Amino acid sequence: MGLNIVMLGPPGAGKGTQSARFARERGLPKISTGDILRDGVKEQWPVALAAKAKMDRGELVDDDTMVAIVRERLSRPDAKPGFVLDGFPRTVAQARALDQLVEERGSGPLVVVDIVVPEQELVRRLAERRICSGCGTNAEPGEAAAAACKRCGGEMVTRVDDDRNVVMERLKVYQRTTRPLVEYYRERPTFRVVNGAQPPDRVAHELDTVIDDAAAVGGAVA
Ligand code: AP5
Repeated sequence: MGLNIVMLGPPGAGKGTQSARFARERGLPKISTGDILRDGVKEQWPVALAAKAKMDRGELVDDDTMVAIVRERLSRPDAKPGFVLDGFPRTVAQARALDQLVEERGSGPLVVVDIVVPEQELVRRLAERRICSGCGTNAEPGEAAAAACKRCGGEMVTRVDDDRNVVMERLKVYQRTTRPLVEYYRERPTFRVVNGAQPPDRVAHELDTVIDDAAAVGGAVA
């Protein structure tokens, strides 16, 4: 059985940070729908260019587009042993589509982790975040003032949708549309919650523990 992870949580919860680490350590692909869209904009991919205005306003891209992107990405060979999804699903319709995809793959249960962080802390983190204009990498927490990316030397810039007004819109969209997913998943034996308002290594430790526990319950190979 594969290890199929979904990282849930509001903007700024640390989904990207923790997904990247977990995926690297377990040899799984990290699949961030936000990164796929941002990379697509850079590469002038028509679907991503059509989505850009919505992303810049903090709104969600339509379900059909997002499900098609994830369906294609999960069909690639590197996702066969499992995956870490960051930013998908974000609506109940996407969650239903993902359940169907996982069933079609016949590759074991979804382990869903909700990363919980108070709103005030989310707003603070997103105001401080800097990403690399070249490769999109986040600065490490506490290293936001660095002028150049440690990975590729690119310039560190503010993400367009980290503008304060857009952040407030993203948080509203999260509460209205994505937060209901917690209820969608809550009763499953492979659903877990972690406290994301701790230093990153503490969050990582808690995540590893709950994922290994949930995977064992669900019969997956962690
Ligand atoms: P997306 O890129 O997914 O953005 P998001 O969900 O808003 O998440 P963020 O990347 O802002 O936060 P994160 O939780 O990953 O936190 P991070 O680790 O970066 O989506 C962008 C847009 O694309 C959406 O608004 C939408 O338009 C579109 N989209 C994407 N997927 C979609 C979908 N499925 N359906 C429809 N539309 C979709 O950390 C944040 C900051 O905090 C960083 O600076 C980090 O260094 C710092 N940090 C992390 N952990 C800690 C910690 N423990 N302590 C202190 N600081 C920390």
